[in-house]
Amino acid sequence: MLNNVSVIILAAGKSTRMKSAIPKVMHSICARPMIDYVTDLVKDLGIKNTVVVLGHEHQQVKKILKPGIRIAIQKRLLGTADAVREALPLLKNFKGTVLVLYADNPLLKKETIKKLLSHHVKNSCDATLLTAEMIKPAGYGRILRNKYSSICGIVEEKDADDFQKDIKEINTGIICFNKDRLIEALKYVRSDNRKKEYYLTDTVAILYKRGALIDSIKADDINEALGINSRSDLAKAYKIMQRRINEELMRKGVTIIDPETAFIAYGTKVGPDTTIFPFTVIERDVKIGARCQVGPFIHLREGTCLENDVRAGNFLEIVRSRIKQKTTARHFGYLGDSRIGSAVNIGAGTVTANFDGKNKNVTVIKDKAFIGSDTVLVAPVTIGKSAKTGAGSVVLKHRNVPESSVVAGVPARLIKED
Ligand code: UD1
Ligand code: CA
Repeated sequence: MLNNVSVIILAAGKSTRMKSAIPKVMHSICARPMIDYVTDLVKDLGIKNTVVVLGHEHQQVKKILKPGIRIAIQKRLLGTADAVREALPLLKNFKGTVLVLYADNPLLKKETIKKLLSHHVKNSCDATLLTAEMIKPAGYGRILRNKYSSICGIVEEKDADDFQKDIKEINTGIICFNKDRLIEALKYVRSDNRKKEYYLTDTVAILYKRGALIDSIKADDINEALGINSRSDLAKAYKIMQRRINEELMRKGVTIIDPETAFIAYGTKVGPDTTIFPFTVIERDVKIGARCQVGPFIHLREGTCLENDVRAGNFLEIVRSRIKQKTTARHFGYLGDSRIGSAVNIGAGTVTANFDGKNKNVTVIKDKAFIGSDTVLVAPVTIGKSAKTGAGSVVLKHRNVPESSVVAGVPARLIKED
């Protein structure tokens, strides 16, 4: 069924309502650009024939798109119908179903699209819409039905009268079309509306009048219909996506004490029997092993890898660091650009001074080392295996601490060698 499907993803809009210098589809939700949710959804479905329509600041968006995605450029942002028109030449030799998706609709699920496509194909429809029932439908296009309950059009909120505004069934924007009927309908779309735009939604009434078969399915989860137009929508989507990410981790055997305060980036890998304590922020590109204890109040930034049985938490920031098994860093501090061995004890208040004003430098702490409370490690520096630093030590750069030795003081000096 999916072999005969092409997808057009609309992402050319200017995002006026976001009041942002960055194109809307580049804004992140759980540390992942909005557009990636949609392009990956299509890829996960195994649909190869995809065109993304870019416009506003298209060079910027292009940079973050995964390689291999075909792009059409909409020169003037004349509306969603115009955007689809711009994409069609790239599907010249294709015959079959064209699925239109909006890149500002990141919460959509794979199963829903599958259901929509299979309904469309099974019933040989000319157009099949994904609709949703919303208690507060403000901002969305409303579905118009005739006296037999068949869909006969969509009216945009701005063009709707009071009666139409009361309609709770909305257009999610996701529609599959028979390609020939789509091309036919696009010819008749006019811009005689409030926004003076060519609306893709007008194709529905056009097709209805021309006797086409139009049907719909409803989204089970109305969150899927959330279109991101404002910062407030962005915050809503963030919360919903975070809940989904956390649920998935819990299904895989991770304990999350308070999912409401565990802010975990999309795609974070966490091993089973790890416990995430409250107020934990985990950014992209972080890996956590099994049986770890993470948090409370911790910020794990990009490039952090905690191996199995690591305990890290209580007011700690870790970035670009690998921490091996059974190491503990249990009380406040900063570990940046560090390679930390196994069974190391990082005392309270340890700071890696990794930045010299120009470069980020590496701190290496070997297995079983004991870093005393309030130690400052001025990178680049290496602490040898089983070495110790006294409380309050400042280990200067290049003053590597030999294996099994003890240093203390400011600057730290060797006081004992086993
Ligand atoms: C659109 C629908 C509305 C639906 C809602 C669902 C139309 C006319 N309206 O409204 O019925 O309820 O989505 O979220 O389609 N875009 C372009 N080129 C353009 C204009 C827009 O590519 O010239 C892209 C945008 O980047 C965006 C998508 O199309 O990804 C939708 O545009 P947007 O302006 O957000 O439409 P809505 O007002 O939300
Ligand atoms: Ca929108």
